[in-house]
Amino acid sequence: MELLKEYNPYLEYRNEELFLEGVSLRELAKEYGTPLYVYSANYIKDRFNAYREAFPDALICYAVKANFNPHIVKYLAQLGAGADIVSGGELYLALKAGIPAEKIVYAGVGKTEKELTDAINAEILMFNVESRQEIEVLNEIAERLGKKVRIAIRVNPDVDPKTHPYIATGMQKSKFGIDIREAEKEYEYASKFKNIEIVGIHCHIGSQILDISPYREAIEKVVDLYEKLVSKGFDIKYLDIGGGLGIKYKPEDKEPKPVELADLIRPYIEKVKAKLILEPGRSILGNAGILITQVQFTKDKGNKHFIIVDAGMNDLVRPSIYNAYHHIVPAAVYERESVKADIVGPICETGDFLASDREIQKSVRGDYLVVLSVGAYGFAMASHYNMRPRASEIMVENGDIKLIRNRENYEYIIEPSL
Ligand code: LLP
Repeated sequence: MELLKEYNPYLEYRNEELFLEGVSLRELAKEYGTPLYVYSANYIKDRFNAYREAFPDALICYAVKANFNPHIVKYLAQLGAGADIVSGGELYLALKAGIPAEKIVYAGVGKTEKELTDAINAEILMFNVESRQEIEVLNEIAERLGKKVRIAIRVNPDVDPKTHPYIATGMQKSKFGIDIREAEKEYEYASKFKNIEIVGIHCHIGSQILDISPYREAIEKVVDLYEKLVSKGFDIKYLDIGGGLGIKYKPEDKEPKPVELADLIRPYIEKVKAKLILEPGRSILGNAGILITQVQFTKDKGNKHFIIVDAGMNDLVRPSIYNAYHHIVPAAVYERESVKADIVGPICETGDFLASDREIQKSVRGDYLVVLSVGAYGFAMASHYNMRPRASEIMVENGDIKLIRNRENYEYIIEPSL
C-alpha cells in the first residue's frame, strides 16, 4: 500500500479501511452521503510550502480555476498565496477569500467589459493581456475611470508541453496569448497608451506536464524577450511563467517537484531582475482530493463486467473528455477475488465512465469506491447534467472534519422555481 502514499502521504489503510488525515472515508460517506469530495488540508499546505521553498522570492499565485471552493481559497490565502484568476467570478471569490488585490493576476482571452472594469476598480497586480484589442479596451476603460492599469502581455512561445492537446496552451495554433515573435512589436504598441503601464511578461505552456524539459525551451525564449525589452528601456518588473506541473494519476507516473523546476530554470532566471510569478493549480490541489462514490449495481454484459456507481460525468468529467486515468481503490478491502471492470456512472451516455478495463476487487451493492487525484479540475468542472445536484465537499485536517460545501438539492437547480 506504499503506492497510496505516493499519491498523498495522508492516505492510508488502517485495518483494511481507507483513511485520509485520520478520518475513515467509509464513515464520512455514511454520514454525508455520496458522491462526496474530500480534501486533505495538510497536503495543500505541504504543496504550497514546497513552492515557497523552491521559489523563495517568487509570488505564488494559486490558479483558482483548479478548485474554487471558497474555504480552500481562503486556506491558501492564509498561507500567503496570491491568485491567478480567469473570470469576474474568480476575482470576486479571491477577494472575498482574503487574497489581497496586489497579489492577483488576471489571464483569459475573453474578458468582458464588466470583468475588466471590476478588476481595474479592485486594483489588481496585473492583467495578463492576450490580444491587441484587449489592450485598447483596457486603456479605454481605465481612462474613463481615471486609473492606470498594469499589464503583462501573454506570449505564446510555441513549445510542445507533451500533454493532452486540449490543455496544451503554449502552442502556436492555440488561442492563447500573442505569438512570441510578434511580442516586441506588441510591447511597442502597448507603450503608446497613456493609461497602460507595462510591467511584465506572462507565459503558460500547458497543464499536466510530467516531463519538465519544455519549460527550459519556453523560459529561454521568454528570457530572451525580457533582455530585448529591457535593452529597449521597458521596465519589466514581473516574469510570470504560469503553472502546469503535472501530478501522479497513473501508478507509474513520476511527478516533478517544484524544486526540480526551480533547478531547471535557474540558469536562465539568474540573469533576470524581475520578480518571478508562478501560477500552480493542479500540483497544489490535485492529489489533495478524493471522490467517494457508492456502488449501486453490478452486471455482466457480453464479456464485460460493469460496476455502476453513483458518481457520473457530471461529478467528474475528466475521464469522459480527456480519457483521463484516475486511480480507483476500495474504501474497505475484503477477501474477495479481483475482476476486470468498467466503472461507470448513472448518466445516459456511453462516455460516462470513471475507468475502463480496470482490475479491482470485486464490488457488491453498497460498497464505497474512492477515486484519487480529483482535487483539481474535479468539482471545479462539475455540472448539473441529468438534473443532478452537485456533490458536497469536506475538508479533513488531522482528524477534524469540516463541511465546506453543502450538497445541492433539486430546488436549487431549478431556481427561480416554477
Ligand atoms: N495559468 C494559466 C494561464 C492557465 O491557463 C492554467 C491552466 C494554470 C495557470 C494552471 O495550470 P495547472 O498548474 O493547474 O496545470 N481542465 C483541465 C486543465 C485545464 C488547465 C487550463 N489552464 C484538466 O482537467 O486537466
